[in-house]
Amino acid sequence: MKKDLLKLLDLTEEEILHILDTADRLKSEWKAGRKHNFPSGKTLAMIFSKNSTRTRVSFETGIYQLGGLGIFLSSSDSQLGRGEPIQDTARVLSRYCDCIMIRTFEQEEVEKLAQYASIPVINGLTDFEHPCQVLADLQTIREHKKRLRGLKICYIGDGNNMANSIIAGGLTCGMDVSIACPDAYRPHPMALDFAAKQTHARFELTTSPKQAAQGADVIFTDVWASMGMEQEAAVRMKAFRGYQVNDELMAIANSGCMVQHCLPAHRGEEITEKVFEEHADEIFDEAENRLHAQKAVMYLLMGGK
Ligand code: CP
Ligand code: NVA
Repeated sequence: MKKDLLKLLDLTEEEILHILDTADRLKSEWKAGRKHNFPSGKTLAMIFSKNSTRTRVSFETGIYQLGGLGIFLSSSDSQLGRGEPIQDTARVLSRYCDCIMIRTFEQEEVEKLAQYASIPVINGLTDFEHPCQVLADLQTIREHKKRLRGLKICYIGDGNNMANSIIAGGLTCGMDVSIACPDAYRPHPMALDFAAKQTHARFELTTSPKQAAQGADVIFTDVWASMGMEQEAAVRMKAFRGYQVNDELMAIANSGCMVQHCLPAHRGEEITEKVFEEHADEIFDEAENRLHAQKAVMYLLMGGK
């Protein structure tokens, strides 16, 4: 493993599969009531500049289950909210803690934190990527489909942090990836450049959800207005009309097609209530796997084998 988990674009297939194998092992150990072989007393600082339910609870529970402690720092009530530079925060937390998880806006802030921190840094979501989420998604898909290589995944909606991470994680693991989004809401150029360089998996970018869903084994979607884009919500509602995961789209995909949604979901917008509830088991397995995938990331970054 590298020192940090900043984005899936940085990881090789071997590294991703090592995380997923570790996540499966920790999951079965925990479910069997066995203790993990990991040094106790590690501390994880968790910096949040955006809201969270899953990320906060799964990281805090995860470090506790590994025998350590999670320390929640919101940007509003820590000194970060009063302008203390991230490079100073990095050096201070490195003197107290064993790992830092950060959820913020700009990817550059996370990269700078990692540059100045002597301890591992984990990206808990930026505007650019949501790597922990897509690791959990890959774990879930592999549990249900027994493989990753050769499957086709598609993503319908905004070319956001989820789309970028699905492109990076899916293609790296040898999956065919198709993204359907309006022209004005394409994934980040870095993700598209990465996709253009792939030779062992196919990539497609289209404005047609139906085209993307053809032959899909997994359909992903996400909200039309991510955190920090609330003021664009009305414009986005119009732009994304037609980018809904519904029965018509599911009928085009392969039989047994899974649905994945990172949550929170906006029923009636990016996904219908019916499709959501029909695939609720897969979606909540996905939410559960945040815990196991992140425990694996923490385990490996803090020295577990
Ligand atoms: N999927 C996800 O990251 O959820 P939270 O925003 O609740 O952490
Ligand atoms: N794209 C969403 C994901 C939330 C987990 C956001 O950034 O708000």
